[in-house]
Amino acid sequence: MSRVELDERIPNNVSLSSDRRLQRALEQWQPKFLSWWNEMGPEGFQARDVYLRTAIGTDARGWAHFDFVRMPDYRWGIFLADPVPDRRIGFGDELGKPVWQEVPGEHRTVLRRLIVTQGDTEPASVEQQRRLGHGCPSLYDLRNLFQVNVEEGRHLWAMVYLLHTYFGRDGREEAEALLQRRSGDADNPRILGAFNAPIDEWLSFFLFTYFTDRDGKFQLLALAESAFDPLSCTTRFMLTEEAHHMFVGETGVLRIVQRTADVLRERPDADLHKLGLIDLALLQRYLNFWYSISLDLFGSEISSNAASYFAAGIKGRAREEHHAEHLALASTLDIERPCEAGLRVESVPLRNAMNEVLRREYSEDSQRGVDKFNRVLEAAGVDFRLTLPSPRFHREQGIYAGHCFDPRGEPISPAEWRARRDEWLPSASDRAYVASLMHPVTEPGKVASWIAPPKTGIKGRPPDYEYVRFD
Ligand SMILES: [Fe+2]
Ligand SMILES: [Fe+2]
Repeated sequence: MSRVELDERIPNNVSLSSDRRLQRALEQWQPKFLSWWNEMGPEGFQARDVYLRTAIGTDARGWAHFDFVRMPDYRWGIFLADPVPDRRIGFGDELGKPVWQEVPGEHRTVLRRLIVTQGDTEPASVEQQRRLGHGCPSLYDLRNLFQVNVEEGRHLWAMVYLLHTYFGRDGREEAEALLQRRSGDADNPRILGAFNAPIDEWLSFFLFTYFTDRDGKFQLLALAESAFDPLSCTTRFMLTEEAHHMFVGETGVLRIVQRTADVLRERPDADLHKLGLIDLALLQRYLNFWYSISLDLFGSEISSNAASYFAAGIKGRAREEHHAEHLALASTLDIERPCEAGLRVESVPLRNAMNEVLRREYSEDSQRGVDKFNRVLEAAGVDFRLTLPSPRFHREQGIYAGHCFDPRGEPISPAEWRARRDEWLPSASDRAYVASLMHPVTEPGKVASWIAPPKTGIKGRPPDYEYVRFD
C-alpha cells in the first residue's frame, strides 16, 4: 500500500518528497495550472463554496473526502492505483514478460503522444464548459458540473505527472503546452475535434458526459492494460472518478426523458415547446450528434497504428482478461467498407481492427443507457423510442468519413444529405430553442421546467441541499 502525503504542496501517493527534482519541477508547474484554472475554469463561480469530493487516496472504501471548498482552493493531487505485484504484459508480442517501470526508448515517442492526447482532453472539457454554470437547471446539477470540472483538472495532473517523471525535457515541454492550447482557438486549438466546440447549454453537457466521457472510459480501460505500468496505475484510478461523470450524463438525460414523458402521459398532444420542455425528436437529433462525434474519437476502423500499439504492448483491448487469447494474430473482424456499389464486407486482421473492437464495446455500453431511457418512455405509454444511429452516420474520421449515410446507415447522395441534415442533426432553430430554456435555477430544491428533479442527493445529502452556496 502506497503512503499518502496529503499535507504536501501537491497531495500525492507517489512519494513525491523523495524525489526533490521532480517535486520542484511539479511545484513550478502548479502555479501555471492555477492561473490556467482561474482564467479558463468555471466563469463566475470561483469564489463560491461548492460541496465537492476530493481524492485523498486510492483505497476502494475511503478514497474521497466531501466538503465545501472554493474551486481555486481545491486540492488537486497525484494518485495512482497500487501496482499489481509481478504484473506481466497481458497481450501482444511481449505477452508474459514483466511490465515496464520505465519507458523503453523505442516506444518513447508513441507513448508520449498517447499521454499528451489523453491529457489534452482533460483541460479541453473544462474550457468547453466554462460558461455553463450561468444556465444551471438546479444547484444539484451545478455542483455536479463543478465536480466533473475539478476532476478533469485532476486528470490533467495525472498525465502531467507521467510526462514530468518519465519523459524528461520533452515531457516538461508537453506539460507546458497542455496549458497553452485552448479549446476552439483558431491558432492553437485542442488536439481532438470533439473538444473544440463550446458546450454552453445543458442538453449538450449531459450528452457529452454520457457519450464523450464514455469514450474516455474506454480509452482509459485500454490504457489500463498497458505494459507501461505507471500509465496502467494512473488510468486505473482515473476510471474510479470517471464513473461519476457518466452517472451525471446518464441521469441527466434520464431526467429530461422522465420530465417529457410525465407530461406526455397526461397530455399526449401537449405543445411541449410552449411548456418549455425538450421534445423527443429534438433529443434524438442531439443524441445523433454527440454519439457520432464521440465515435470519431476512437480513430480509424482499420489502423496500422492500432496494430503496432497492440503488438508492442502499449495499448490493449478493454478488459483484456475477458478475451480468450491475447496475441490476436489468427483472427479477423468483419468491417463494412464503402465502395462503388455501396458497402462491401472486408475481413480485417484483428490487430488492425483494434480501434473498431474498442468502438463496438463502447457502442454496446452506450446502448445500455438508451434502453433505460426507453423503459421510461414505455412505462409512460409514449410510443417514441430513442435509438443510437448507425456508426456510419455523420462521421469525420475513419473509413466512413467523406461518405453520406442516413441514421440507419444506408448510403445516400450528398444532395439528400444536405436536404435532410436538419431532420437528423440539431438545426439552428433547435439550438436557439435549447438556448432559450437555459435560465439559471439557483434556489435549493428547485429545478428547471425541462428536467425532472434528481431522485437522490450527493453523499447522503438531500436533493434540495444547498450544494453551491450563494450568499
Ligand atoms: Fe477525465
Ligand atoms: Fe470525465
